[in-house]
Parts: sequence; structure tokens; C-alpha cells
Amino acid sequence: MKRTERTIAVTGAKGQLGGELCRMLGERALPLDIDVLDLTDRQATIDALLDADPELVINCAAYTQVDKAESEPELARAVNVGAVENLAEACRRLDCPLVQIGTDYVFGEGGKGKAEGGSILPWTEEDEPSPRGVYAMTKWEGERAAMKWEKHIIVRTCGLYARPCDANAKNFVKTILRLAETKAELRVVNDQRCTPSYVPHVARATLFLAEKSSNGVNGIYHATNRGFTTWHGFASEILRLANKTIPILPITTAEFAAAAPRPVYSVLDTSKYDSLGGPEMPHWKIGLQEYFEEYVKPLELK
Ligand SMILES: NC(=O)c1ccc[n+]([C@@H]2O[C@H](COP(=O)([O-])OP(=O)(O)OC[C@H]3O[C@@H](n4cnc5c(N)ncnc54)[C@H](OP(=O)(O)O)[C@@H]3O)[C@@H](O)[C@H]2O)c1
Repeated sequence: MKRTERTIAVTGAKGQLGGELCRMLGERALPLDIDVLDLTDRQATIDALLDADPELVINCAAYTQVDKAESEPELARAVNVGAVENLAEACRRLDCPLVQIGTDYVFGEGGKGKAEGGSILPWTEEDEPSPRGVYAMTKWEGERAAMKWEKHIIVRTCGLYARPCDANAKNFVKTILRLAETKAELRVVNDQRCTPSYVPHVARATLFLAEKSSNGVNGIYHATNRGFTTWHGFASEILRLANKTIPILPITTAEFAAAAPRPVYSVLDTSKYDSLGGPEMPHWKIGLQEYFEEYVKPLELK
């Protein structure tokens, strides 16, 4: 794994965000995923990183199956907490920054109060998390594990969907497009608010924050696209852009009856990120438009 020039280690390199970061970094990336390194193996993780000697580590690896985590809490904790402890220890020994990817799910309870005009305020980095469910709780524990190493940045994001060329990605956009091919109508939850975020935009922001971490910046930063919607609102926009006209019925969280609890309102305030002057985070509808511009390209080439 040793390279002559210093690299940026990207864990979860075969996942949605890790994959995009590796594409953006090109030769500078040291891609790591479970096929080459199981991050829950403490000694192997520390040895591999000390050997590779990266200039920083971006941890995109996670146990991300929110519902399955309820029946596999030990594995979820091993990956979302234990692996972060291992990476933090490796970074401490290397004296290099650790960029840990966090989630909006740490805000499991309802909104945080009303702004003038009656709207609920987005969560800031200073707000106290209220995670509910195994995935959310282990990701919050993972943030605290990363914070034990002073050279950390936590990048909290939300509702990720990778570029259409990412064949392995599992996300809401792909699910809706698949269901639209097979179902006569769709039923989608309409009482949870969040910000769907396009992976290339979040990857750009993550690299900007990673660079800042090398210059001594640390702490928590929220990085999502702008605006917010419900899953029903998001699905409606996906179907509109895909020119699908099947009915889409709004349902409640209770009717959907998922195994794990979901945040009711997990819109993140990104003004702390904005204040650093990083790459612009477009509105979520622009992110989705960009996705579809890429999506149709291969069809046009036929
Ligand atoms: N997806 C979202 O909507 C969303 C929203 C907010 C925050 N986030 C956070 O953003 C980050 C990236 O999410 P993502 O959607 O890109 O995740 P993803 O596509 O599920 O990728 C995660 C990667 O980590 C790998 N991994 C799992 N266990 C591992 C282990 N023990 N050792 C090494 N690698 C391991 C996975 O391999 P396998 O596939 O083989 O398990 C997978 O390739 C995560 O921290 C997630 O919590 C995601």
C-alpha cells in the first residue's frame, strides 16, 4: 500500500461518497474498502495506515442499513463506532487529520423551535443531538470517537444519492425510479423533512473541509444541498424529471412502519460551512437536475 507521494486515505471507497471522493482525487486517493481492509480490525487498521502514511484520512465507511441495524446492533456499533476509534488512533499516531462523515439522523427528535413566520429552524452544529435507533445512536457515538483526536472534522450530511454512473449505489432516487417501472402507484412518506443531497456536491464540500482540516480547522460542519422537502416531495420531483406520470400517494411515517425510527425534521443549517467560503452548495432541486442531466446522457448517445 506504500506510495512515494503522500495520499489521502478514503475509507468506504466503494460506497457512494467514498467512490466520488476517489474519482475526484484521482491519483491522490488511497482507496480502502472492506475487501482490502476491515476497519473493525484494530491492529490491521492501525498497521495499514501507519504503513501507508497518508496526509489525512476521510472516513466514509459506515454501517448504513438503517433498518437492518436494529437487528444487528453489534455489527453496526463495530463499524460506526469501533472502526472510528481505530482510525482516530491511527491518525493520532500519524499526527494527521481525520475527516469523519456524520449524519442528520443524530437529530431524531422534532424541530428545534419556531422562527419568525412560524417555520421550524434548521439544526446548527451547536444543537444537542437526540439520536433514535441503532444507526443514529452509533453514528453519534462515532462522532464522539472521532472527536477524541483533536485533529478531526465531522462533516454531517443528509439524504445522499450518488451520480447515476455509480452502478452499486443504493439510494432513494434509484429506488423510486425502479418502483416506477414496476408499480401502478407509489406510496411515499410525507411527514419527514430533510434535504436530499447530491453526492458530487457533498464530495466537493468534504474535500474543501478536508483541506481546511490540514490547516488546523476542526469541529463539526453541516454540508448538504439547500432547501428541504419531504420524501414525497423528493419522489414527486424525481418522477417529474423522469417524465413518469404514475400516481404518488402521501403516507405517514406510522403507515410506512419501518423497523427503525426516522427523524421528523433533520434539516441542517449550513451557515458555518458557508462562512468558510467553500464551494457553493446548490438547492436540492438543482442537484437532482444535475443527476438527470447525467442520467439521460448515455440514452442520448445510443
Ligand atoms: N446515504 C445517506 O443517505 C447518508 C446520509 C447522511 C449521512 N451519511 C453518511 O455518509 C457516509 C457515506 O455514506 P454512503 O451512502 O456513501 O455509504 P455506503 O454507500 O453505504 O458506503 C459505505 C461503505 O463502507 C463499507 N464498509 C462497511 N463496513 C466496513 C468495514 N468494516 N470496513 C471497511 N469498510 C466498510 C461498505 O462496504 P459494504 O457495502 O460491503 O458493507 C461500503 O462500501 C456514511 O458515514 C453515512 O453514515 C449517509
